[in-house]
Amino acid sequence: MQLTCGVNFELIARLRLDLLDARFSVDTLTELWGERADAALHRGQRVPAVRALAAPAAATPAAVLARLFVLGMQVSPEQLAAALPALGIDGAIQLGLVALERDGLRAALDLRPYSFVDAHGVGSWWIASDLGELTVGGALREDHVLGVGGASLTLSGLMIDTPVDSALDLGTGCGIQALHAARHATRVIATDISPRALRIAALNAELNGIRNIEFRLGSLFEPVVGERFGHIVSNPPFVITPRADGVPSYEYRDGGMVGDALVASLIAGLAAHLEPGGIAQLLGNWEYRDGVDGTGVVDGRNGLDRVGVWVASTGLDAWVVEREVQDAALYSETWIRDGGTRPGPEFDRLYEAWLDDFDRRGVKAVGFGYLTLRASSRGLSRYERLDSAVGGGLGVHVAHTLAGNDWQWERTDDQLGRARLELAPDVTEERHYWPGAADPTVMMLRQGGGFARSVPLDTGLAALVGACDGELSVRAIIAAIAQLLEVDAAELSADLLPSIRELVTTGFLRPLP
Ligand SMILES: C[S@@+](CC[C@H](N)C(=O)[O-])C[C@H]1O[C@@H](n2cnc3c(N)ncnc32)[C@H](O)[C@@H]1O
Repeated sequence: MQLTCGVNFELIARLRLDLLDARFSVDTLTELWGERADAALHRGQRVPAVRALAAPAAATPAAVLARLFVLGMQVSPEQLAAALPALGIDGAIQLGLVALERDGLRAALDLRPYSFVDAHGVGSWWIASDLGELTVGGALREDHVLGVGGASLTLSGLMIDTPVDSALDLGTGCGIQALHAARHATRVIATDISPRALRIAALNAELNGIRNIEFRLGSLFEPVVGERFGHIVSNPPFVITPRADGVPSYEYRDGGMVGDALVASLIAGLAAHLEPGGIAQLLGNWEYRDGVDGTGVVDGRNGLDRVGVWVASTGLDAWVVEREVQDAALYSETWIRDGGTRPGPEFDRLYEAWLDDFDRRGVKAVGFGYLTLRASSRGLSRYERLDSAVGGGLGVHVAHTLAGNDWQWERTDDQLGRARLELAPDVTEERHYWPGAADPTVMMLRQGGGFARSVPLDTGLAALVGACDGELSVRAIIAAIAQLLEVDAAELSADLLPSIRELVTTGFLRPLP
């Protein structure tokens, strides 16, 4: 089912005019309430921002809109009429943005500016979503439509922006991933099981003048049966939730399946919907069952192993990065709290339900991470824990990692020996010495960008990496090192080439043409 009905183009155009005139932007709001209040808002605290906007000087249209739509405060009809002169109060009510109360008007939706930087440059949008816990002041509705949260930003930051004809955003919510995908895809299909989410996402697309997204209702791949895409992105409802009476099932985070089955189903459906070479990027949770402590013990039930089993049956190339593992109790607390339930008897009841559910499957911990799957067979099969703090904009790094993998995979050892490599500019070497010692006890290579990897070095690899300045071939460097260390060059080469392949894939070394 395709959904564009319910979007009032005329009213949205007027709203857009008003938001532009009001300069309702991230910069304006930060100017209005200051960096500290901004940081507090990101922590879920609005008091500093409310105080900042109480000053008489903060009576501009942007301040009124911020009070109403970001902070959830009441405004007077006169204030709203002045802040939205083209749309007017009736238009705002018709669009479902505000509701009349006895003493004024209150927001019915959250509406806030959003800014970003990607390969196309700096961008700025307005994003509507349901009112958050901060403004609702309690548990959320089960059909709550999520705004742009931490996971949304993680996935949008990971997004590879190589141009494609068609992209799919599965579980679009407020549409944020679809809007980003619309910048590098000619056409985007955005799906959701929530008609309410699709209406809000369509409003966001129109409000931001983005017209290459089609919205379709349905579960998982139902709305795109028989269709293939160059790029699939999904921040799916991966949160593991007990299937028990009285436990709320929030559409925005819970796909209605037992345990981590939703992520498994999503992976299972990808191969039939990716074009050859097409890439899927997802976020997900996976269970650690039966005494596996999350430190890498493999017994077939290890969380990352489970993902490997799901992926194996698809035949797709895969790179899965586990960013964190939470024990079952912490995981339960996190997600009960996320639904707006505060500590108390109701919280404890839900906590019991969560732990009962985990006990039934012997779940001790839950992993969270990023999945990149590709319809190709280029030997990409990486399942790894990378939990260092990372910067934004990882999409470029993900694209480079895929390209690095392919480059080395396509070359025989002989061809690799003839290649010239250079060290990436964000790489540094770290050496540790016993006090007074001439030789280091530990040598490490560290990556400044990407996943901030560190790689231990032995003498041969350290010498090779140090000599990779693009001048000499890998083979010539290895021959020189072998002479220096007085070892057999063929043996040293056999020893170093697998490490070189790994350093090329992970972006420490870059091939020169
Ligand atoms: C975590 S939200 C992600 C929203 C948005 N894409 C983002 O990145 O912020 C997951 C979305 O998936 C939708 N959803 C839940 N179950 C689904 C299903 N079976 N098929 C498709 N979408 C589903 C929810 O309604 C929700 O909008």
